[in-house]
Amino acid sequence: MFYLTTAIDYTNGSPHIGHAYEKVLADVIARYRRLRGDEVFFLTGVDQHGQKVQQTAEKEGITPEAFVKRTTLKFSDLWQKLGVQYDGWAETIDERHKACVRAILSELKGQGQLYKKAHAGHYSVRQEQFLQERDRDEAGNFGPEWGEVVEIEEENWYFKLSEHTDWLKEFIENHPEVIIPAFRKAELLNALERNSGIDLCISRPRERLQWGIEFPFDENFVTYVWFDALINYISFAGYKATPGAGLPDFAKLWPADSRPVHIIGKDILIPAHGIYWLCMLHAMGFTDAQMPRLLVHGWWNIRGEKMSKSTGNIVDPSELADKFGTEALRYYLVRDIVTGRDSDFDMDRLIMLFNTELANELGNLCNRALNMSQRFTEGVLQPGGPLTEDDLALQASLAESIANYQTAMDEFDISKGLEALSRHIVHCNGYAERMKPWALNKDPENKERLATVLYHLAESVAHAAVLLSPILPDAAAQLADQLNLPALTSLKLADLHWGLLPAGHKLGQPKPVFPRIVQEAAAEGG
Ligand code: MSP
Repeated sequence: MFYLTTAIDYTNGSPHIGHAYEKVLADVIARYRRLRGDEVFFLTGVDQHGQKVQQTAEKEGITPEAFVKRTTLKFSDLWQKLGVQYDGWAETIDERHKACVRAILSELKGQGQLYKKAHAGHYSVRQEQFLQERDRDEAGNFGPEWGEVVEIEEENWYFKLSEHTDWLKEFIENHPEVIIPAFRKAELLNALERNSGIDLCISRPRERLQWGIEFPFDENFVTYVWFDALINYISFAGYKATPGAGLPDFAKLWPADSRPVHIIGKDILIPAHGIYWLCMLHAMGFTDAQMPRLLVHGWWNIRGEKMSKSTGNIVDPSELADKFGTEALRYYLVRDIVTGRDSDFDMDRLIMLFNTELANELGNLCNRALNMSQRFTEGVLQPGGPLTEDDLALQASLAESIANYQTAMDEFDISKGLEALSRHIVHCNGYAERMKPWALNKDPENKERLATVLYHLAESVAHAAVLLSPILPDAAAQLADQLNLPALTSLKLADLHWGLLPAGHKLGQPKPVFPRIVQEAAAEGG
């Protein structure tokens, strides 16, 4: 079982292009793993508790519940629009999740992993956390990233994180494969050094925060938002669930010897996932072989700047999908970023990549293959003629492209996978120009040669449809339909072989799948 999750998005705002990227990336990986033949369970959802939600709801004069119900819809509607197909949906206000969080709290308390103590210090309202001396800037102040900082003294519940950090250090050193990409490992180990000896405050007093999960053994406290949110990965996987609760079988999803993949952004590796979560799992008795892999992606920025409400540079994915189409947006989001690195969101590049790689190269190939077959051979494929060096080179290019695609996709490098496919499409267009089927058609003597050339083009389109299906499921289905092979997109990677389209097969009518994006349409939206 390939169990894949994303971060769950805060519902105190609206989804932006960064959220959309993560969900599309996960969706592409989930679809690719299915194509590879794996059984997949893909979980995503929303993070609905916390101080920010409480404050925003108060400002609007509505209950936090009404507020999150409304904002949650913005996320789930967008995922539907973008074709993000998940198997499980996590909402942290779900009673089944709350019960799981409470059961874990009780169990950890029973094991002596939790304790209560008073603490006085500086507290960041925006980040919902106590600050340490090391959080001060060079001038000795708490910088603007912390927002309003207040001095408070209060009692809270703590998790004995410090008892697990030595284990974690050793675990990370011995299992570097759990942190992807590898360069994040050093950051994590450095952070562990800095954090050693510090326990994690996991509660908030109810008088300050009501919008959270109440402690089962101390009604004056609610759970700190991260301790609640991280647990979604197991609660919605059926951990400690009552039978009949409508949740998956945990033992099947997350068996003792398998690592799920958590897709997260670089900002929530340290300390949340890389330290808190792994230590929480360790305290709950998860074994080393069960620790998740963390696939840490980079950020989409705008002209090198972080996207933020205050600068007003937020890009709305829903508007982009309306303007350019869902498939163009999906393509851009995984094409113009190297998984793990940052990228700059650039509308001109979205248009350019769509127009060159899809509309021109692939669109042209599809059109040539289908159109000329219809015109010259009534759409009927008749391979079987003798093969030339050009034919063999095209077949070799396809085989290489599939192998490189698979290696890249196995490493979660979607952009590289698409490049591998693109190279083959360019090869095919060059082949078509050299073989000139339109000229071959002029002489009936060339009938067999013409059929061979057209077959090579159609076979390449059929393979491209399958390889593209995780990224552009709609376009792939349309191509399969035009090839008259609707079952094409349900093939597995291992089924790909030269000869997918049988001799005598009749192709359907071509219809452009990738209409060029015209610049005027882009200029309108700025
Ligand atoms: N609620 C927490 C996650 C809890 S997971 C148990 C959270 N939410 S978030 O809404 O702020 O972010 C959700 C995801 O979107 C995170 O993985 C975050 O890194 C990612 N991104 C937020 N802004 C982003 C970009 N500008 N670019 C790419 N991803 C970004 O953190």
